[in-house]
Amino acid sequence: MKYSSGIVALCLIASVLGSQIRFQSWNLRYDSKPDSISVAETIASLNATVPYDSEITYYTPSSEVAWSSRRIGVANEFAFNRPDVFCVQEALKRQVYDLAELLPDYAWVGVGRDDGKEAGEYEAIFYRKNSIKLIDWETFWLSDTPFEPSKYPDAGSYRSATVAHLGSKFNNFTAICTHWDDRSDRQRQLAASLLRYRGAYEAETTNAPIITGEQDMLSINRTFESQYKSQLSETFVWKDVLKETPVQNRMGHYATFNGFYDIGNTQAFGRIDFVMAGSNGGWEMSRYKVGEVFYDHGVQLSDHRPCVADVTINKIKK
Ligand SMILES: *[C@@H]1O[C@H](CO)[C@@H](O)[C@H](O)[C@H]1NC(C)=O
Ligand SMILES: *[C@@H]1O[C@H](CO)[C@@H](O)[C@H](O)[C@H]1NC(C)=O
Ligand SMILES: *[C@@H]1O[C@H](CO)[C@@H](O)[C@H](O)[C@H]1NC(C)=O
Repeated sequence: MKYSSGIVALCLIASVLGSQIRFQSWNLRYDSKPDSISVAETIASLNATVPYDSEITYYTPSSEVAWSSRRIGVANEFAFNRPDVFCVQEALKRQVYDLAELLPDYAWVGVGRDDGKEAGEYEAIFYRKNSIKLIDWETFWLSDTPFEPSKYPDAGSYRSATVAHLGSKFNNFTAICTHWDDRSDRQRQLAASLLRYRGAYEAETTNAPIITGEQDMLSINRTFESQYKSQLSETFVWKDVLKETPVQNRMGHYATFNGFYDIGNTQAFGRIDFVMAGSNGGWEMSRYKVGEVFYDHGVQLSDHRPCVADVTINKIKK
């Protein structure tokens, strides 16, 4: 696999029985220009005047602006999509708490990856409180010591995965939110190995059919190996749900990364954010969309575009 910048989001939807779930994954770009402006202050500063057409410069040249100027748009993107579950990557504590404040219909789980508490970026999973119930959740690290906050030797950053077991009235499923290293290809191979192994375990606990796998794995931490042992370890694979979506129901962009581009400069573009589902089956893709982050007022909401997937969760055949 090739990664132009190595920023990868991967999420699982496994299953038991039920209906359609809307799922969204979005790398929010960490708060690299922090300030102390509150959510209330940002809302108070918004201009309620709707401009005349002649007053607008469409696609105003732009670059990265502070999170405080992006967060209302980011929250509204989630609010309009109404996902049942959404994953964010790169969100610092303040960003997670701002979204919780702006989106009171959702609860969330996750930890800062640098200390397992509040330091560093969160791979947080939000779920809609009136439709989704949290069963349990945990975080593991994409390193040789996955049970503690840790960094793979040649990785640029600490890298982790948040696993949530979620349920609704009709179905249970597992969501995994993760973000791989941008520097170390070896770290990404290890991350793939750990997630494939863990995915197989998740698949087996739903009593799924076996499907032939594709890739050899790196050796992984022995404790992790024995804790998540399953009969699917050799065969389970993750499937890119875009490829599984009926062609007439695919919508939006190809690239998920735009690097805070200006019109005409697409050099950094790449497809590096993914929604994936387990080869154990029990799901069917309805629709998939890579959305937009650059609107007429010239503020780019993130340097990644949001991925939205409508997935029908089926009863698993036994
Ligand atoms: C609000 O927007 C209108 C229309 O674009 C503009 O004329 C006005 O100057 C803006 N007000 C402020 C305080 O920015
Ligand atoms: C596996 O990871 C745990 C903690 O995450 C660590 O204590 C243990 O030493 C690791 N095992 C090996 C063989 O590296
Ligand atoms: C979902 O998980 C909960 C908690 O483990 C369990 O009690 C419930 O029976 C599960 N529901 C289904 C439909 O499997």
